[in-house]
Parts: sequence; C-alpha cells; structure tokens
Amino acid sequence: MIHRIIKKLKFIRDQLLEEYFIPIDKSKIRRTKNLLLVPSLRYRRGGKIAYIEWGHVIGIFQTIIGQVLNQKTGQRILDVGCGTGLLGIASESYVSEGGKYIGIDVIKENIDICKKIYQSPYYEFIHVEAHNEMYTPNSYQKQKSWPFADESFDLVTALSVWTHFGSQDAQFYIKEVDRVLKPKSKAIITFFYLNENYTQSLADRNQELGKFNRSPKDLWIFDKKFEDSDDWLTPKWTNVPEEAIGITKKGLDSILAQTSLSLSTIYNGSWKERPGAYFQDIIILTKNG
Ligand SMILES: C[S@@+](CC[C@H](N)C(=O)[O-])C[C@H]1O[C@@H](n2cnc3c(N)ncnc32)[C@H](O)[C@@H]1O
Repeated sequence: MIHRIIKKLKFIRDQLLEEYFIPIDKSKIRRTKNLLLVPSLRYRRGGKIAYIEWGHVIGIFQTIIGQVLNQKTGQRILDVGCGTGLLGIASESYVSEGGKYIGIDVIKENIDICKKIYQSPYYEFIHVEAHNEMYTPNSYQKQKSWPFADESFDLVTALSVWTHFGSQDAQFYIKEVDRVLKPKSKAIITFFYLNENYTQSLADRNQELGKFNRSPKDLWIFDKKFEDSDDWLTPKWTNVPEEAIGITKKGLDSILAQTSLSLSTIYNGSWKERPGAYFQDIIILTKNG
C-alpha cells in the first residue's frame, strides 16, 4: 500500500517538474529546432524516457541518417517499430520538401499518440498487426507483408526492434526491408550483435559480475538459447525472450544471405561495456544496385 502511494507521489512530482521545466528549457533551444518536437514525459516511450536522452539519441541518429542518405531532402524514410516517433524527429529535415517519414508499429496506442503529437504533411503513422510475445502477446496475427510497394523507400530504420525478434521474425522482416528499399539505398538497424567484440568483452564482464556483485541485468550477457538456436540468444533474466534478443554473426549472415542486402558498417554498441556511439550496435545495410 505504502509503495503504491510513494509511486503515485513520484509520478505526480515527475509530471509537475516536466510541466514547468520542459517549456522553459525548450524556450532556450536556439539551433536544433527539431528538438521542439520532443513530446512530454507521458508520451516518451521505447526504452528511453528522459528528455535529455531523447535529445541525445535523436542527435546520434540524425547524424547517421544524414551520412547514409544519397540526398538530403525529399527522402522517403520507413521507420519500423517507430514507438512514439523518436526517429521521426531525427528524420525531420531529410523528409522536408516532398519526402515522407512513415512510422509503423504493432502497438496501436503508439500510433494514435504519434498521429496526435506530430501533425505534419511529412509524417504518416500506420498501425500494423503482428504477434510479438513482449509487445502484443494477445495478437495471433502472423507476420504479414508491409502495405508498401517494392522499392519505394530511400531508407529503412529500426531502432531497438530486431533486438526483440527471434529468427523467424528477423528473417521475414529483413526480407521486407530488402523488398521496400530502392536499389543502392540503406537500412539502419540496431542489434545486440554477438560478434568478436562481444566475445572478447565476456571474460572481464563475467569477472566483474563476481567481483562487484553487479546485477546480471546490468551486464547484458546472452547466455540462453532462444528456440534452441545457437544464433539467437537471450539473457537468463528475461521473462520472455523477446525482452532482449542477441544475434550472432552467423545468424545475421544467414538472414542477409536470403536478401540483396549486405553489411556495410558497424558502430559497436556500448552495451558491451566498450566505447560505442550508441547503446545497441548500429548496423548499416546496403541494398545492391
Ligand atoms: C523498444 S521499442 C523502440 C521504439 C522506437 N523505435 C524507439 O527507439 O523509441 C520497440 C518497438 O517495436 C515495436 N514492434 C515490435 N514488433 C514489431 C513488428 N513486428 N512490427 C512493427 N513494430 C514492432 C513495438 O511495439 C515497440 O514500439
């Protein structure tokens, strides 16, 4: 009972602080106008909640999106698992002048929030139905093709989405990415990529666990097979594997082998407790021309 009251009081405190602080802070934004679009606390979802963290992550992806696009305005960008639109804010300048950012998500509430808070002719949000044991456990909808024409996007993004996919989803949706991308275009997808960088980090991270009594949850060790596969793994602490799924190099190679996508760049993530641009591994894929 007392815990519930404390939780409620903290919630009210956070909402009040947010209501006063954010408009003041936003009134001081001078050079990064798209950050004015960052929504209020109750709409910031997708694993990143803090206002400053949204700004930080938007900055990282705005930079990488700019690097991989062949042209800088009028672009068509598909964001898979858009949540409440973080990458829409990162994409804002690139879709101006006739382009479009389309966000799709399996959670209808996310799409409704996006439609309400981002009202621009350059944005569109579409609810797609599909089962995901973490996000839509009550849906029985099997994987379904996205409602977009072949070769109709200049870029596909997915931030923290393939990290919730087992092998079947990972394979099905990577083929969809391949299908909707224009030739020579790119996809930016984040993973928990279990490559040599991960393997090398394991020894000292395991040691740290024993030494400092750190929680296994902080250390991101993917030590349980998902669906009996050696290439899709989850940490032992997950309630359902879809909370966090890592993929080996062999796993990634195997899903790419069925597409015309190839790996062009990896930004190793800091989740392995090694220096990294972002928390998860950012992988850039290029569609053959
Ligand atoms: C960790 S959240 C990330 C949200 C957003 N990309 C961000 O970083 O703020 C993962 C999102 O993927 C969505 N999702 C899960 N499976 C999906 C699928 N098969 N198709 C589209 N979206 C999916 C979830 O509903 C959720 O909003």
